Amino acid sequence: MIGIFDSGVGGLTVLHAIRQNLPSADVIYFGDTKNAPYGEKSREQLSALTVASIRLLQERGATNIVSACNSVSASLAISLLDAFDLQPNQLIEMVGPTVSTFRGSDARVALCATPATVQSGIYQNAFRMIGKDIQAIPVPGLAGAIEFGKGDAEIETAIREAFSNVDPASFDVLVLACTHYPFAISQFKNVLGASIKIFDPAHAVAARVEKQFWPREVGDGRTTFLTSGESLQFKMLVERLFPDVPYTIEIA
Ligand code: DGL
Repeated sequence: MIGIFDSGVGGLTVLHAIRQNLPSADVIYFGDTKNAPYGEKSREQLSALTVASIRLLQERGATNIVSACNSVSASLAISLLDAFDLQPNQLIEMVGPTVSTFRGSDARVALCATPATVQSGIYQNAFRMIGKDIQAIPVPGLAGAIEFGKGDAEIETAIREAFSNVDPASFDVLVLACTHYPFAISQFKNVLGASIKIFDPAHAVAARVEKQFWPREVGDGRTTFLTSGESLQFKMLVERLFPDVPYTIEIA
């Protein structure tokens, strides 16, 4: 069974792409809604939450793990795998599949993410390894606004403030390095222009899941959602994204 985790609703965008590639995998998804948002927490807090999420998913039977949360990527050091009795091929995170998509590309990349992801420097370093310098733009408050179902105005204000000193002509593609942000694509376009080219890493991650976990992960297509607290927004987005998939939602 594949275990997927995020702070809340963001990872649903990744699960949606994974479901398209692997309809018959059994999946358990943990949204840590009680502790969301993650993107303004310290490295120490994020490490502790990462450990708790992976343990919970393993206790519930997950054998392969997808971290659908960019903000915890810096916590997923190889040394952590031993603690969980996981092999490197049993864990997929967001950074590797995202950055490798741009190998050999001469596009000028801007990346927006939570303050925790930008401050960790993990994307800037990974892009430098493939010979690219990127603009990394933190967007405080945006993941939280999406998580708590705030309206367009609040979402657009967060984007506008974060991009106030960024010229949209200074990049060719904008990478959404927070899994919550694809829910706000129309607001990004409202602020930055309809012609802006946006890259949502969910499909690159789903392709990696298919390559790395298949055919080990053949099941009945069961989907179990766990959240750490009640969230109407979580239920609403699950219903919207997965109208044809049987699922259960439990409080962990
Ligand atoms: N969706 C997560 C990410 O990709 C977490 C965002 C948050 O909770 O602030 O970083």
